[in-house]
Amino acid sequence: MALHAAHHGSKAAQSESASTRLRIGVLISGSGTNLQALIDRARKGSLEADIVCVGSDRASAYGLVRAQEAGITTFVVSYEKYLKGGRIDSVEDAEVAAVDARQRILRDQDHEVRRDRLRRLMAAEQEIAAHLETHGVQVVCLAGFMRLLTPFFLNRFRQGDLPGVVNIHPALLPAFPGQHGYRDTYRYGCKWGGITIHFVDEGEDTGPVIAQAVYPIWDEDACENVQQRGLHLEHLMYPQVVNWIARGQVRLVPRVGGRPRVQIEDPAYREVVGSWVEAAFRHRPVVVHRRT
Ligand code: GRF
Repeated sequence: MALHAAHHGSKAAQSESASTRLRIGVLISGSGTNLQALIDRARKGSLEADIVCVGSDRASAYGLVRAQEAGITTFVVSYEKYLKGGRIDSVEDAEVAAVDARQRILRDQDHEVRRDRLRRLMAAEQEIAAHLETHGVQVVCLAGFMRLLTPFFLNRFRQGDLPGVVNIHPALLPAFPGQHGYRDTYRYGCKWGGITIHFVDEGEDTGPVIAQAVYPIWDEDACENVQQRGLHLEHLMYPQVVNWIARGQVRLVPRVGGRPRVQIEDPAYREVVGSWVEAAFRHRPVVVHRRT
């Protein structure tokens, strides 16, 4: 069952929702607080897309419980099965070679080793994509999904001119890519941390930026405080970005000799971004740890 505003709305809204609302699938690996933020907004009737399924690479991810409690279909795809398993025949050699020519996440010099790993990733992605496609997913939202996706998967989810896979990253990219955005921001001694929501491309955390916002880091903050403040901001941002996409207010503008730029065509854009930064500025973590 998909969660959407129409559950709380009129019959007319329900039939409109069935035909025109954006269908999103969320991929997680862990706690799923961003997923919860999306679910909460859907419950309030202020998410303009339907969360039609939630997938994970880890059966123990708590986010799966959150989804099930919200009545959303879930699925689990074990990467281990593919990465540590025997031969993989479900992906053609030519397809692996084509994806290898485009991908920027696997760097092994030995092309046999690299292609074997790529084939295994692609096999796992094939299974994930099949689940998402069964549910008619149009846009895939990564929310703490800890696997790198290859162009094989990314090509299957496109929205016309727009990429169809979105990620939330806990740092102000291009600073601090990788798995530990909060820790790296804090350890560097930054006075401001940031959150980036971006389209996913062939690299790691390199895709076109859709939205960014910043939060202050105070002298008395421990890393946990910084993470709490950042997550508060993430939970405001992700539903808003989903709504921008659902309304067709996100445009990718190509630029000669440069990276394409994402433009948000919401007349309230400046107020929205201002409200995020203000909220982060006011946010006080429940427990303030002293820096040692
Ligand atoms: C978030 O910090 C997100 O930015 C990053 O992974 C974390 C996921 O947290 N990509 P949660 O599972 O949504 O609580």
